Amino acid sequence: MKRANLFFALLAAAPVLVDATGQSGTTFEHNCSQLLHSFHAPDTKVLLAQYVAKGANVTFPHADPTCPQFVISLADMCRLRMNVTTSSTSSVIVEAFMPTSWTSKGKRFLMTGNGALGGCLGYGDMAFGTSLGFAAVGHDTGHTGDTAAPFLNHPQVVEDFVWRSIWVAGKIGKQAVNYFYSVSIKKSYYMGCSLGGRQGLKIAQDFPAEYDGIIAASPAHDNANLLGWEANLYTITGPPGSPTWLNLSHWNAVHQMVIHQCDWIDGVLDKVLEDPTKCRPRPEAILCAAGTTGDSCLTPTQADTVRKFYSPMYGNNGRFIYPRNNPLTREFLGFAVQYGGVPSFISQGWYSDALFNDPSWNIPDNFNLSVVDYDASVDLFGISTNKTDLTHMKNNGTKLMVYHGLGDSLISSEHTFLYYDSVRRDMNTNLDPFFRFYPISSMDHCYTGEGPWYVGGPVQYSVDGALSIDTNNSVLMRMVDWVEGGTAPDSLLGYTLVNGTVHGSRYHCRYPYQTVYKGKGLDPNSPSSWTCDDHMI
Ligand SMILES: *[C@@H]1O[C@H](CO)[C@@H](O)[C@H](O)[C@H]1NC(C)=O
Ligand SMILES: *[C@@H]1O[C@H](CO)[C@@H](O)[C@H](O)[C@H]1NC(C)=O
Ligand SMILES: *[C@@H]1O[C@H](CO)[C@@H](O)[C@H](O)[C@H]1NC(C)=O
Ligand SMILES: *[C@@H]1O[C@H](CO)[C@@H](O)[C@H](O)[C@H]1NC(C)=O
Ligand SMILES: *[C@@H]1O[C@H](CO)[C@@H](O)[C@H](O)[C@H]1NC(C)=O
Ligand SMILES: *[C@@H]1O[C@H](CO)[C@@H](O)[C@H](O)[C@H]1NC(C)=O
Ligand SMILES: *[C@@H]1O[C@H](CO)[C@@H](O)[C@H](O)[C@H]1NC(C)=O
Ligand SMILES: *[C@@H]1O[C@H](CO)[C@@H](O)[C@H](O)[C@H]1NC(C)=O
Ligand SMILES: *[C@@H]1O[C@H](CO)[C@@H](O)[C@H](O)[C@H]1NC(C)=O
Repeated sequence: MKRANLFFALLAAAPVLVDATGQSGTTFEHNCSQLLHSFHAPDTKVLLAQYVAKGANVTFPHADPTCPQFVISLADMCRLRMNVTTSSTSSVIVEAFMPTSWTSKGKRFLMTGNGALGGCLGYGDMAFGTSLGFAAVGHDTGHTGDTAAPFLNHPQVVEDFVWRSIWVAGKIGKQAVNYFYSVSIKKSYYMGCSLGGRQGLKIAQDFPAEYDGIIAASPAHDNANLLGWEANLYTITGPPGSPTWLNLSHWNAVHQMVIHQCDWIDGVLDKVLEDPTKCRPRPEAILCAAGTTGDSCLTPTQADTVRKFYSPMYGNNGRFIYPRNNPLTREFLGFAVQYGGVPSFISQGWYSDALFNDPSWNIPDNFNLSVVDYDASVDLFGISTNKTDLTHMKNNGTKLMVYHGLGDSLISSEHTFLYYDSVRRDMNTNLDPFFRFYPISSMDHCYTGEGPWYVGGPVQYSVDGALSIDTNNSVLMRMVDWVEGGTAPDSLLGYTLVNGTVHGSRYHCRYPYQTVYKGKGLDPNSPSSWTCDDHMI
C-alpha cells in the first residue's frame, strides 16, 4: 500500500476508543475533522474543521490588522469555520468552538457579540465560554475588519451588520452544535458588550425565542442619537490646538478635579463614584490665572468645553438627543476615540459609508444637527434597536441582564438608566422577573477601571489576573443560575484588579436599588461593607 493510500485508509477507518465516561465511539478529533465534509446547512460552506488542544495558540494569519491575530485555547475543542451566504452580495463568517466536555457541562450554547464597527470575531469570549463548558459561536457581522468601508453601496452588508448576521449565526451555530454532539442543546445564551450590547438588545426586542438568557453590556443602541452625540463631541472640542481643545494633561487635570469634587459623595475616598448622578463637575475650580495657560489648569474657553462635555445634548427644535458624559474616572480611552480632537471613527464610518454612501462626506465639514434627525428618520434596517416593549421576551421566559460601567468614556451609562425606565413606563409592569440592570461603578467601556469593575463578562477575561477569579461569580454563570436554577441575581460581584492581583470586591446592586456604604470604619474593599438601598424603588 502506498503511503498516501495508507493515509486515506486510516482516515476512513476511524479508531474506536472508550472515552472517560466509558462510552465507546470514534474519537473527538476524528468527529471534528469529519465536519468538513459531513456538516451541511442551507447556504453554508464549511471552510475549516480542526481539533485544537487546550493551551494551543490559535493564530489567524489572514486576519484583518484591526482584528485579533491569535487566541489561546482554554479547552480541548473542535473549531469549525463556515461561510454563510445571506444574499447575492453578502455573506457572514461564523465560527463555533465546541469543547470536549459539553454533554456533562449542561449542553449550553453561547453566542458572542462584536465591538465597534464589527468585522472581527469575538474569539476571546468564545474561548472564555469553552472554559466554562459552553459550545461558543461568533461571527464577523458580515464584513471583514473593524471598518465601515464594506458598507459603501452595499445595503445587504449593512443589513447583515444591523441584524441578519446575529440571526443567521445563531441558526447555523445551533445546527452545527446539535449535529456535532448528536445531542440537542439544552439552553442558549448570548453575551456581548458595546456593539455586542446592541446586538443583545436586538435579540431581546426582535427574536427573543432564540435565547434563554441574554447579557447585553454597555449597549451601543439608540444608534442615531448615540452616533450623533459621539460626532458632536468633535464639534465641542474642535481639532487639536484650537482654543476649545484640551490635551491629555488637561483631561488628566479634569480627572483629578472630578475625584476631588465628587469622590466624597458616596462616603469612601477610593476614586470610585458609586453614584455619579450626584456628581456635577465644576471646571471653574481649575481655571488658570487670567492670561496664562498650563498643563493642569484650564482657560475659560476650555472650561466651557468641559461644561458642554458634561451637559446633555439637544438637537433641532429642542429634541433631546443624548445624556451627558459620565463624570469619568479614567480619561484615556475616550480621548483616543472621540474627544481628543479626532472625530469618532464609528460615526464617521456610519455616516459616509452606510447613510450617505459618499466617501468624501466628513464630520468636520458636513456634520450638523439635521444629520442626526435624518439618520434617525431613515433608521437603516432598524439599527436604532430602541424598542421599549419587551412583552415577547417576557412571554418567552427569556431573561435579560444589562450592565453598564459608570465610568464609561465612550457610551454614557446615563443612557442605559433612561432605557430601563422607558421600558418600565412602556410595559408598566415589574421588570425584575425578566429584565435586570446593574450599574457597575468605576468600569470604563466594557472593561478596566480603578475599582471593582471585573464581573466576568464579555471582553473582560483577557485582562491580567482575570483567570484566577472564581468563575461561579461571573455574570455568565449568574445568568445560568437564573435561567436554569431560577435564582435571579440581585447584584453582581465586581473585583478590583490591580496589576493582575485582586484588591477587594464589591456587590453592584441592580437598579433602582443603589449600592450604599454602610458606614465609617468598615473596609470598603469588603463586599459586606456595602448594602442595596431601596429609596429609589
Ligand atoms: C463521534 O460521533 C459519533 C457519531 O455521531 C458519536 O456516536 C460518538 O459518540 C462521537 N464521539 C465523540 C468522542 O464525540
Ligand atoms: C501566538 O502566536 C502569534 C503569532 O505567532 C504571536 O504573535 C503571539 O505572541 C503568540 N501568543 C502567545 C501568547 O504566545
Ligand atoms: C463567502 O462566500 C461568498 C459567496 O457567497 C464569497 O463571495 C466570499 O468570498 C466567501 N468568503 C470566504 C472567506 O470564503
Ligand atoms: C416569543 O418570541 C417570538 C419572537 O422571537 C414571538 O414571535 C412570539 O410571539 C413570542 N412568544 C410569546 C408567547 O410571546
Ligand atoms: C498641554 O498644553 C499645555 C499648555 O496649555 C502644556 O503646558 C502641556 O505641556 C500640554 N500637555 C501635553 C501632554 O501636550
Ligand atoms: C446639514 O448637513 C447635511 C448633510 O451633510 C447638509 O445636506 C445640510 O445642508 C446641512 N444643513 C445645514 C443647515 O447646514
Ligand atoms: C427609536 O428610534 C427610531 C429611529 O431613530 C425613532 O423613530 C423612534 O421614535 C425611537 N423610539 C423610541 C422609543 O425612542
Ligand atoms: C463553582 O460551582 C460548581 C458547581 O456548583 C462547584 O462544583 C464548584 O465547587 C464551585 N467553585 C468554587 C470555587 O466555589
Ligand atoms: C501597578 O503597576 C504600575 C506600573 O508598573 C505601578 O506604577 C503601580 O504602582 C502598580 N500598582 C500597585 C498597586 O501595585
